[in-house]
Amino acid sequence: MIGVIGGSGLYEIEGLEGATWKRVDSPWGIPSDEILTGRLDGMEIAFLPRHGRGHVHSPTTVPYRANIDALKRLGVTDVVSVSACGSFREEMAPGHFVIVDQFIDRTFAREKSFFGTGCVAHVSMAHPTCALLSEACFEAAKAQGITVHRGGTYLAMEGPQFSSLAESRLYRQEWACDVIGMTNMPEAKLAREAELCYASVAMVTDYDSWHPEHGEVDISQIIATLKGNSENARGLIARLPALLKTTEDPCPHGCDRALEYALMTAPEK
Ligand code: ADE
Repeated sequence: MIGVIGGSGLYEIEGLEGATWKRVDSPWGIPSDEILTGRLDGMEIAFLPRHGRGHVHSPTTVPYRANIDALKRLGVTDVVSVSACGSFREEMAPGHFVIVDQFIDRTFAREKSFFGTGCVAHVSMAHPTCALLSEACFEAAKAQGITVHRGGTYLAMEGPQFSSLAESRLYRQEWACDVIGMTNMPEAKLAREAELCYASVAMVTDYDSWHPEHGEVDISQIIATLKGNSENARGLIARLPALLKTTEDPCPHGCDRALEYALMTAPEK
C-alpha cells in the first residue's frame, strides 16, 4: 500500500474511491492527524497531512515516530513524502520538483529512532531513499509535465526560522547541498527502521537566501508557489499506481529487510 505524507499546501487527495478518514492509535504518540484511506486507480492508498489539517504542527513538533508507525500499522509498504524546499541551485527553480536521494541531517530537537534502551539497532542510511519508488515518482512527475530533477541532496534543518545568509552559503558552496527543508528528517530514518520504502518529492518554492537576484525567502513566496504546484503534486500521486503496478513484491533494494543485520540486542531467552 502507498502512503503519502503531504506537506504544506497538500492536506488532502481528491478523487479517492471510498475515501475514509481513520484514526490510528500508536504507542509512539498521536499522529499528526487522522489518515485518509481509499483506492486510487485500483490501488489502496493512505494519506497523512504531515502538519495536520489546519497546519498545527511545526517541523519540530511533528510526531514523526507516531506518523511512520501509524502508516505501518495500516499496511503501508511505500511512503512518498511530499514537501516544500528551498533551492541552492540556479537550475532547480521555484516550481520545479526534485526527487531527493541524499540527506544531511542537521536537526537536533526531534526523536529520531524507534530503538534505544532495551533494544538497540543500527540500520544503514547509505542510500536513504528507495531507488524503485523514487524512479516511479520521477516518471510520474515527467508524465504530469512537471520540470523534475532526478536526485539531489537535501539539507534537513531544525527551523522554524529560515537559514542565515552564512548558513545558506555554507550548505550551498561547501557542503554541495541542492535543496533545504525542515521535515524530511527524521522521517526518512524512521521509515528505514520501520522497513518501509521511502521516496522524497521536494517541491522547490524559493532560493533560500543565497541568490543575489532573489530576496530572502518568506512564507508568502512559499505559499504562492505551493498553490501553483498543488495540482501538479496531486497529478503526480494519481499516476503512481499505474507506474508501480504492485507494492506486494519484495523491494529489490532491501528496504523491507532493513533490520535483517541491524539488531544488536540479544533476543530474550
Ligand atoms: N521550505 C521551503 N523553503 C525552505 C527554505 N528556504 N528553508 C527551509 N525550509 C524550506
